[in-house]
Amino acid sequence: MDKNIKLHVEDLTVSFKTTQGMVRAVRGVNFDLYEGETLAIVGESGSGKSVSSRTIMGILAGNGVIDKGSIIYEGQDLTEVDEEHFHEVRGNKIGMIFQDPMSSLNPIMRIGKQITEGMVLNGKRLKNRVKELYHMEKNKFTEITHKKEKLQRNFKKDLELVNDSTYNENLEELNEKYQDLLKQLSEAAPEAKADLKTKANQAKTLLVSAQTQLKQSLKQQYQVSIAELNKQIPAAKSAMGKAKKNAKAKVKQEWKDEKAKYAGKIAAVQNDAAKKAKADAEVKIQEEKLSKLTAQLASLQEKFNKDIEKAERDKDKQILKDNYRNDKNALRNEIRLTKAALKTAQKTIAIEGEGLREELRRFKKVTNKEAKERAIKIMKEVGIPQPEKRFKQYPFQFSGGMRQRIVIAIALTANPDILICDEPTTALDVTIQAQILELINDLKRERNLSVIFITHDLGVVANMANRIAVMYAGKIVEIGTAEDIFYNPKHPYTWALLSSMPDIMSKERLTAIPGTPPNMLFPPKGDAFADRNSYAMKIDFELEPPMFKISDTHYAATWLLHKDAPKVEMPEVVKNRIDRMLEHTKEVTNNG
Ligand SMILES: Nc1ncnc2c1ncn2[C@@H]1O[C@H](COP(=O)(O)OP(=O)(O)O)[C@@H](O)[C@H]1O
Ligand SMILES: [Mg+2]
Repeated sequence: MDKNIKLHVEDLTVSFKTTQGMVRAVRGVNFDLYEGETLAIVGESGSGKSVSSRTIMGILAGNGVIDKGSIIYEGQDLTEVDEEHFHEVRGNKIGMIFQDPMSSLNPIMRIGKQITEGMVLNGKRLKNRVKELYHMEKNKFTEITHKKEKLQRNFKKDLELVNDSTYNENLEELNEKYQDLLKQLSEAAPEAKADLKTKANQAKTLLVSAQTQLKQSLKQQYQVSIAELNKQIPAAKSAMGKAKKNAKAKVKQEWKDEKAKYAGKIAAVQNDAAKKAKADAEVKIQEEKLSKLTAQLASLQEKFNKDIEKAERDKDKQILKDNYRNDKNALRNEIRLTKAALKTAQKTIAIEGEGLREELRRFKKVTNKEAKERAIKIMKEVGIPQPEKRFKQYPFQFSGGMRQRIVIAIALTANPDILICDEPTTALDVTIQAQILELINDLKRERNLSVIFITHDLGVVANMANRIAVMYAGKIVEIGTAEDIFYNPKHPYTWALLSSMPDIMSKERLTAIPGTPPNMLFPPKGDAFADRNSYAMKIDFELEPPMFKISDTHYAATWLLHKDAPKVEMPEVVKNRIDRMLEHTKEVTNNG
């Protein structure tokens, strides 16, 4: 199988600063996510699943730090992407849904608005980009006009101070003298009044002329400064206008280039001979399979018609009928699956082209109307009945399952190619859980998504994971295909998870895993699981085990795999359970 690596996580190590010390939440996680696969990450609560996925999404809590490691997506290390490009890469290409849909929804905003919000926000992109480009010239211009306004305000204030004679000591002195003479005048004997009146008038003249002089000099000073600014304004204004025009032209050109780039990409997809051949080959395979199955169904019916005529006893007839019904159902089921696969194969190239067109659309403005149309389309895609009506409703008017569908719809508006699902069904009841899992599976197939599916319950991923990583105390302790993990588990912790999984038939849990996970403020020295592991050896308490290779697809970190370790068989309960699972799978395949 040729596998494209979509996401490469290496030595990812994340800690949290707390008042009690550093919590070592993720301790050197390594994995690849292949294109089009579902990778399940399974482990008990607190094992670091959410922290790992939030780190990939770039939404680590404020007290979290990436100590080391890298997350490579399309040749870029996401741990080093800055704010500006963050949105382009992570926001658009990697979508995430959480356990509690309510936590991702705004309770007082209509559902439709919540779905279109992101699209419209992104849709203003070109406008914002123009603004960004002539930002500097615009700032210069506004700075000058603000300065001028400030000078004018200060001039007015200064004039008021002059009128109040509080502008400087000289004015205050002159004013005091005048006021003093006025006071003397009001208290003076009649014969002294004439003389005082003359003196007061003289003092007033002195004051007023000082004021007038001061006003004139202020006016002159301010005028010089204001004239200076006035001179700068036209140049700044025209620089701003020019920059705006250039910015618009530049963005227009960027848009043109982007369109051309995408036209090229789309044409390349449509004309890619190898891709076409591959798609055609797949179509052919499915068509052949379909016609074979249809022929089988016809001959089955023919045979049954013959046999039933020959049969004499009612009992024989009944057996024939039962067998026929079972076989027919199995065939029909396979025909249905083949038809779906055929449809997907026929559409592969068109789907890829549409994905590209969608990306291009997101580069420019999205109108409200367009956003609504797309929202309704996506609501239909995620299985929300009556989307036009539902568009106008609030989250509380939706059931838990429907809310999770809305959250998925919101994630899909960004047309992601990786979807991280963090316990998306844990809060839902069993039947709804199955529906959401099916939806995620369908979306994965139709949109060729690569999915990271996180859960504490191994049972949940049995029918949907291609590969499974088992996490314990901030590390992946075993990783392999679903078959490797379910039928050939090697790590004692995986054994414990398997035996604590609800039984397929009885739905009962056999055993809870004894003990509790270690306190990650003080991660243990050796194998973190040693304390709870009845197979632990001396070395488990002293040295961390490396990843031992079991096969090309299967690895586990336990000293039990060391060549010198005693040969330990998995516990009887786990063995029985695996046997039962195998039997069950056989039955299911036989019955279609
Ligand atoms: N913001 C935080 N501050 C301190 N410790 C945290 C923070 N977030 C998570 N942790 C700790 O990190 C560890 C891993 O948590 P998490 O990834 O949420 O586990 P799970 O596997 O259940 O998703 C836990 O010990 C948890 O208590
Ligand atoms: Mg979690």
